[in-house]
Amino acid sequence: MTINVKNELLKRLFEANGSPISGQEFADEFGLSRTAIWKYIKEFEEEGYGITSIRKKGYVLTHSPDRVNAANIQKHLKTKMYGHNITYYESCSTTQTIAHDDAQSGAPDGTLIIAEEQTAGKGRLARPWSSAARKGIWMSLIIRPSLMPQQAPQMTLVAAVAIVRAIEEVVKIEATIKWPNDIMIKGKKITGILTELQSDPDRVKAIIIGIGMNINHDMEDFPEEIQSIATSLKLESGETIDRSRLIAEILSFLELYTHMYEKHGFSPIKLLWEGYSNTAGKRIKAVMLNETIEGVALGISEDGLLEVKQDDGSIRGIYSADIIV
Ligand code: BTN
Repeated sequence: MTINVKNELLKRLFEANGSPISGQEFADEFGLSRTAIWKYIKEFEEEGYGITSIRKKGYVLTHSPDRVNAANIQKHLKTKMYGHNITYYESCSTTQTIAHDDAQSGAPDGTLIIAEEQTAGKGRLARPWSSAARKGIWMSLIIRPSLMPQQAPQMTLVAAVAIVRAIEEVVKIEATIKWPNDIMIKGKKITGILTELQSDPDRVKAIIIGIGMNINHDMEDFPEEIQSIATSLKLESGETIDRSRLIAEILSFLELYTHMYEKHGFSPIKLLWEGYSNTAGKRIKAVMLNETIEGVALGISEDGLLEVKQDDGSIRGIYSADIIV
């Protein structure tokens, strides 16, 4: 993998934890001139980093802006593959389309496309997805697991469990999963997941997991029409969240659970998922494209379908629906 020297320099500045990094040594290591290093330092300052230059010692990072760029995420990263290759945008239309293109051109397993803002974010069923600048996590992860195409939809549930675990770990609050792709706190949505597939008839080539999370929004950061149904981690916890740390944690759990799914099948994930579900055991309405059914949600099947016991006693497996609890 080719190293992005600018990212590497920023990473070293972070890792030095307040100690100076020698510009000369870094320049020698990467075969660059001192001027090239100085130009990177100027660019960092323009991006909002505070960097002090100490004579004969080097550069010290004194302040970093709240950005979900590669260096900020990678300083927390504990994974083997996921998040080692990151493409970062201040603004883009949708990370999902960029991820599809990158996957087609051979991006490695675990490549992350992330943006501070999306101007045309999309949700399930091509609904618009509001993605305010620097308030949330708007990212698409390209993974290449050894799965068959029919096992791909369950990756939405794998991702949901990973996200809830990461929120528990970093924010210390409990979130629940509303089948198939919503993460909720006290009945309001904080996260949506959009799983898309690139596949041969008998083999997954890539799965693109799009994750949209409302993190540091105040209520006025949401469009008026979703203010009654959406919330953010900041609104629920009363604290501003370190988005980069949360992303690194999500990538860790996602890597762990994806490998678990590849190795041991869906059963262990199903157990975890059912523990976090706010749907199982409740009376629900499932609104599908052509019909609406009512009944008690029993849980999910081995292939990720929601099983609903209707009033006549029959059990229906549902592929996709809007669930009203
Ligand atoms: C949903 O709940 O309908 C799914 C929302 C998924 C939104 C994310 S944000 C990052 C990625 N890029 C997009 O345009 N959509 C997904």
